[in-house]
Parts: sequence; C-alpha cells; structure tokens
Amino acid sequence: MKTIVLYYSRTRKTKVVAETLAKQLSADIQEIKDFKERSGFLNYLNASLDAFRESKTKITPENLNLEEYGLIYLGSPTWAGKPSPSIITFIDQNDLKGKDIILFATMGNQGAHSVIKRMNEKIEARGARMVNSFSIKTSGKELIEIKDSTLKKMEEMDLKIYGA
Ligand SMILES: Cc1cc2nc3c(=O)[nH]c(=O)nc-3n(C[C@H](O)[C@H](O)[C@H](O)COP(=O)(O)O)c2cc1C
Repeated sequence: MKTIVLYYSRTRKTKVVAETLAKQLSADIQEIKDFKERSGFLNYLNASLDAFRESKTKITPENLNLEEYGLIYLGSPTWAGKPSPSIITFIDQNDLKGKDIILFATMGNQGAHSVIKRMNEKIEARGARMVNSFSIKTSGKELIEIKDSTLKKMEEMDLKIYGA
C-alpha cells in the first residue's frame, strides 16, 4: 500500500516538513488549500478566531480518493492552539475509515500538543487511528533549518518503518 502526505500551510513551514517527509519516504504529497484569504493582520486575527471556533472553510481539493493509501501523514500549523480550519474541514469531508494516520503539527513556540490531540479526536471519530505523531517548532527558524529538524525527527522516530 502507498503512503501520502497531506498538509495545509500558510507560510511554507508545514509545507517544508511535508515535502521533506514525502521525499524521504517516496510518498505522494497533496497540499490542502484554503479559499479564504489568510494573509495580513486582520486576517490573522480572523484565522485565530476561525481556528478557535473550529469554523469550517472552503478547501481544495474538497475530497480525495484515498483508497490506495495504507498510511497517511496529516499535517497542520498551530493556530490559537488548534488545527487550521482547512485541516478540520478536510477531516470532516473525507473518508478516513480504517486508515493508519501519522499526525504532525508545526508551531511557533507552543500548542502543537493540543493540535495533535484535537486532530486525533477528529480522525478517530471518522474511523481512522493515529499510529504516531510529532511536532516541529518553527519560531526563528529558516526553512532549511525546519527541513533539518524534520530529518532529525524522522531519524529519532524511525518513521521509515511505518507503511513499509
Ligand atoms: C492565525 C495564527 C495563529 C497562530 N497561533 C499559534 C499558537 O497558538 N501557538 C504557536 O506556537 N504558534 C502559532 N502560530 C504560528 C504558526 O503555528 C507557525 O508559525 C507555523 O509553523 C506556521 O506554519 P505554516 O508556515 O505552514 O503556515 C500561529 C500562526 C497563525 C497564522
């Protein structure tokens, strides 16, 4: 069975983590995009509010056929201690029944633990199970350093044994 890495990223940090995973694991990769404008200060406040309230948002792709995948990596940035609305929406709109999922979250400094906890509750409610999880701190890091942190984490967690 194949592996796919799914993620949302506003400022490319979670994207770098996802791309590093996909490359190392020879996995497929799919970005989940949010139609709502999320840049700028006011939008930052709204984004936090949307995340806090777990408001749904319009995403693309809306649905994915995940039949051929035995293992899914699902990644989100931390927004106000919550998963991004796009990831919450994705979980609610997709068939995850019977899937093994590795959850990951990026954060500035804190809150990824609660993001993973909430994502786990949501995927379990959809019939999937979390087989592992990890977080990456991104504050003050260049993208290349985020890539290095991801490689280190993969090594520490022996991530290549999953789905092989
Ligand atoms: C709306 C918003 C809320 C955020 N809330 C938090 C937070 O509660 N805790 C934290 O450590 N970082 C927070 N951050 C920072 C991001 O989680 C962090 O920079 C992340 O790595 C960004 O990933 P991305 O570049 O893939 O979007 C927030 C960022 C945004 C835009």
